[in-house]
Amino acid sequence: MKLTKQEIKRQQELINTINTKDKLTFEEIDTFYKEFNEGWLQDVTATCLYCTPVELAYDITLLSHFNSGVIVDVCAGLGVLTHAYATRCDYYNSNWENKIKFICIEKNSKLVELGKKLCPYAVWIEGDCFDPNIWNIIENDYGNITHIISNPPYNSMVKLTKEHKKELKYKGSKFQFALLEVCLHYTNNITFVVPETDCEFTTNPYYQRRKNKDHDNLRKLTGINYHIEALSLEIRCYPEFKNTKIPVNIYDVTLE
Ligand SMILES: C[S@@+](CC[C@H](N)C(=O)[O-])C[C@H]1O[C@@H](n2cnc3c(N)ncnc32)[C@H](O)[C@@H]1O
Repeated sequence: MKLTKQEIKRQQELINTINTKDKLTFEEIDTFYKEFNEGWLQDVTATCLYCTPVELAYDITLLSHFNSGVIVDVCAGLGVLTHAYATRCDYYNSNWENKIKFICIEKNSKLVELGKKLCPYAVWIEGDCFDPNIWNIIENDYGNITHIISNPPYNSMVKLTKEHKKELKYKGSKFQFALLEVCLHYTNNITFVVPETDCEFTTNPYYQRRKNKDHDNLRKLTGINYHIEALSLEIRCYPEFKNTKIPVNIYDVTLE
């Protein structure tokens, strides 16, 4: 996506605010997420860096959140899901930082650097979400994971390597299914933002269940019975993603 001169100037202003201030206000963070275009940082198609619109992130975390425990945002990008989650927790309990630990896993160092400024209360782990050492460190240092949230790269836009698949039963090419297998090993509660075609339902034009062979296959391969359910969101009323028109939806996973 090509930005106009004015848009580029605005991106620089937003980054300057983040880089020059020691402590950002809620308004500065909210404005950053609303106005910053990730396409200014890098080629978003190659990395599948399609950031969740912050308005959608607030509502996802309103409908699906826990008030205590360890919350892991996998493929965290600039941390918008974590920011929204923390905002919701703050609304219910101003003392939430004593009860909740946020952990963000992201492999891109530039995003980690910015994410640390936007979500300074979170532990940022720079690395590959398929690396079992990262998950062991999280469990050893912080305990059982309460909830995993993620807007992972879509389909095969980010390639899975042999190394990634070594530990997995899923051998296909869709990143989000490989990641779901990993997440199912670590928690009972998972919320994913994914292309609509990867849900076992559609909400367009109204809610209907439908079969999905990748999920059937993953259940068979892992022996884990899980249930996918829609969050009650009218997805079309949110601002569009800034750099993709792939229709997405949000599902919650619970173990049966
Ligand atoms: C669709 S973006 C979503 C970013 C953010 N979660 C959001 O909702 O705005 C996917 C992110 O996954 C990151 N990513 C890709 N492969 C990864 C991997 N193997 N481990 C960790 N992060 C990865 C990308 O750098 C990108 O930031």
